[in-house]
Amino acid sequence: HARTRNVTRFMRERLSKDMINILRNIGKVASELECGAYVVGGFVRDLFLYRANEDMDIVIEGDGIAFAKKYAAMLNARIHAHAKFGTAVIIFPHGFKIDVASARMEYYRFPADLPTVEMSSIKLDLFRRDFTINTLAIQLNPDKFGTLIDFFSAQKDIKEKAIRVLHNLSFVEDPTRIFRAIRFEQRFGFSIGKLTSRLIKNAVKMDFFKQLSGRRVFTELRLILQEENPTPAIKRLDDYDLLQVIHPSITPNQKLISLFNAVKKVLSWHDLLFLEESYMKWVVYFLAITRYCNEKISRDICEKLELAPRHSVIFCKERFEADKRLFWLKQNSPLTNSSIYRNLFSFRIELILYMMATTKQEKVKKSISQYVTQLRHVRTSLAGRDLKKMGIEPGPIYREILEAVLDAKLNGLLKTRNDELIFARNYVL
Ligand code: CTP
Repeated sequence: HARTRNVTRFMRERLSKDMINILRNIGKVASELECGAYVVGGFVRDLFLYRANEDMDIVIEGDGIAFAKKYAAMLNARIHAHAKFGTAVIIFPHGFKIDVASARMEYYRFPADLPTVEMSSIKLDLFRRDFTINTLAIQLNPDKFGTLIDFFSAQKDIKEKAIRVLHNLSFVEDPTRIFRAIRFEQRFGFSIGKLTSRLIKNAVKMDFFKQLSGRRVFTELRLILQEENPTPAIKRLDDYDLLQVIHPSITPNQKLISLFNAVKKVLSWHDLLFLEESYMKWVVYFLAITRYCNEKISRDICEKLELAPRHSVIFCKERFEADKRLFWLKQNSPLTNSSIYRNLFSFRIELILYMMATTKQEKVKKSISQYVTQLRHVRTSLAGRDLKKMGIEPGPIYREILEAVLDAKLNGLLKTRNDELIFARNYVL
């Protein structure tokens, strides 16, 4: 039986008024349809971990799509429904989203033909989930609003900081959960429980990953690399011999761990300076993982993990260009600003950050950081039309002049627009 208690006061302390209103309205609409409604999973878990979470997962006991339609109509929101799964996403006019799933009374058959078990629909829905900490539900119907339902000792496991599966076949059902266990463990500073740890080892030994597509492995790996600090998770993947799932040649040694730490440092530096600039954080870490792989192995990895061509090109081509460039920079340092710029401007920011993390030479690091903070933003104030006004015949010479102006400006020789005009005039004389 479930442990229940009312947590309305706690919700009011932790959630915004808008959020509470949304939850109350969901309950009202569901009751009008005579359905049970619950907010479940990560949202509730994070409420008790004092972590912000805006991903609202709702389970409706009954027809979730009918609920979503009625609720969305009331609020002028759009919905995307998947009839096959009985799920819907409600999208508010300002972009906020709610995921809705249907829980129906049914019998749960364990895999491998173990006995069937009868359960209430919400309990069944929660029983199918990955870890106990993700099985909390809060009822939303008006007469029971704020009732926390805990069927599987989630509160105890949150208190004990433990990641535990609900049953022994959890990883057989879905081996990606192994990656999720490690991701949650590191994110929350929890530990994988003893039995769960044994089940992971067993799953790895039995090679359950064989049945997974490379794409799914990649999705999980990417989620790990997007966490705040992926380094400990990489160590944990190695504890369970899971880096081999990416490719047999990837062995995490001290070198990889220090590289990860260096990437972390560079990314924190970048994010502090350029908060609003978005980039693919996972790419920089994945560059670190494949750092010691040759071109053939890199290609094999990208193929195996089914990376999109726009991503493979980064690891199979651009990375090798970056490595060559880095080698050249090391040989030729110190450099003028214009040559730093010319050497780096063709690389995307992820590769620039990778170069910065991999180099140990302070001089080169400084040059790259100068490129990131200043040089890449420098523009000439002259443009083609200015050259035309000066009576210069349009042609390839324009590009040459403007590049020469930019070089001079990068090297601090030109301060004002007038300096640029004089420089351009002298250039063609
Ligand atoms: N789930 C699962 N098995 C998976 C993936 C998800 O059982 N392989 C369940 C989890 O219990 C989770 C729910 O589906 O609560 C929603 O998944 P997701 O949004 O990925 O989980 P969150 O816990 O919200 O994770 P995050 O905070 O990273 O978004």
